[in-house]
Amino acid sequence: MSRSLLSPFDSPYLGTLRNRVAMAAMTRGFADAEHCCTPDIADYYGRRARNGVALILSEGIVVDPSGDGYNHVPHLATDAQAQSWGPVLEQVHAAGSLMFAQLWHCGRISHADFTNGIAPVSSTDQPAEGTNRQNGKPYGTPRRLRADEIPAIYHMIEQAARRALDIGFDGVQLHMEHGYLFDQFLDARINDRTDAYGGTVENRCRIVLELVERLLPLCGDRRLMLRLSPSRMLGGNIYDWPDLEEMLHYIVPRLNAVGARLLDISCADAPYAKTSGRVIRTVRQLWPHFLMGGASLTPDQAEAEISAGHLDMVTWGRAILANPNFVDRITVGEALIPMTAEVRASLY
Ligand SMILES: Cc1cc2nc3c(=O)[nH]c(=O)nc-3n(C[C@H](O)[C@H](O)[C@H](O)COP(=O)(O)O)c2cc1C
Repeated sequence: MSRSLLSPFDSPYLGTLRNRVAMAAMTRGFADAEHCCTPDIADYYGRRARNGVALILSEGIVVDPSGDGYNHVPHLATDAQAQSWGPVLEQVHAAGSLMFAQLWHCGRISHADFTNGIAPVSSTDQPAEGTNRQNGKPYGTPRRLRADEIPAIYHMIEQAARRALDIGFDGVQLHMEHGYLFDQFLDARINDRTDAYGGTVENRCRIVLELVERLLPLCGDRRLMLRLSPSRMLGGNIYDWPDLEEMLHYIVPRLNAVGARLLDISCADAPYAKTSGRVIRTVRQLWPHFLMGGASLTPDQAEAEISAGHLDMVTWGRAILANPNFVDRITVGEALIPMTAEVRASLY
């Protein structure tokens, strides 16, 4: 069968999907004071599912209060928080779409204001450069995780994954990109450790591989996805992992060997062709399984990536935010409404 964006897709991993359109994870900041979902959030996701987005990635859901870094983001640290996603999943599933929960730990992209007064943790004790957009203060000075504390991070994520699967998410996506906790280990410019989790490529990738090995028995290979950003944008410049090729040639085959099967390559809001598009051409040669990516591709560009076999599904973020009827619009070739500050500030 020919591969095309809007035709049904029989994925050996995800089953039969209506098309190859996926909604990228997008933090919205509309959770309630208890970090739970609200009916408005359920309608927001439900609308995109009813319009035909085949796979929805939730906004980043913080696995534990110590991993937060934002105002009003959802958490998955209690059963009540997990249950608040029930109405979201009802709407998404009734529409025939799948939804994965994105599990998030911010690491040092935070501040004690968001972690109950205790220092955020990281691979390093050096703060991130810049200002936390949420409180206007410089990023907090993190506390370097000791190696013997890392299993507690796995445990937090495992608990959140269990809650997500129990409430009916079709899978979980591990947020390992964009400079947050796991990227703080992967990235040689940030990771300044001298123990088994720092220094060599092998050591920097260890945390990711150990976590995946720990989660696979719980999730199974069809319900565990990783999101990585080997090349993205930072401060207006393209920012690659310093040892990009070596990292990709190490981590991708190892992920395959430990049994991971679902991969999403992100570049945040960078130009796709110069970042993820380039990375994906290397990854594809090393990875025979499910591969997803994107960043504001035109439908024609998406079609070309799919028909060439570079991607199995294409993610859109801002376009789906600004166009709840995104699939209808691209089906008939109607222009898309551009993303604006008003769109970002609302849930519609
Ligand atoms: C409002 C907003 C919030 C985002 N939050 C997340 C997030 O929680 N997790 C994540 O992995 N990426 C997040 N992203 C990045 C998107 O998933 C996506 O990679 C990025 O927007 C590029 O795709 P686009 O050009 O199609 O928008 C966010 C992007 C936007 C615009």
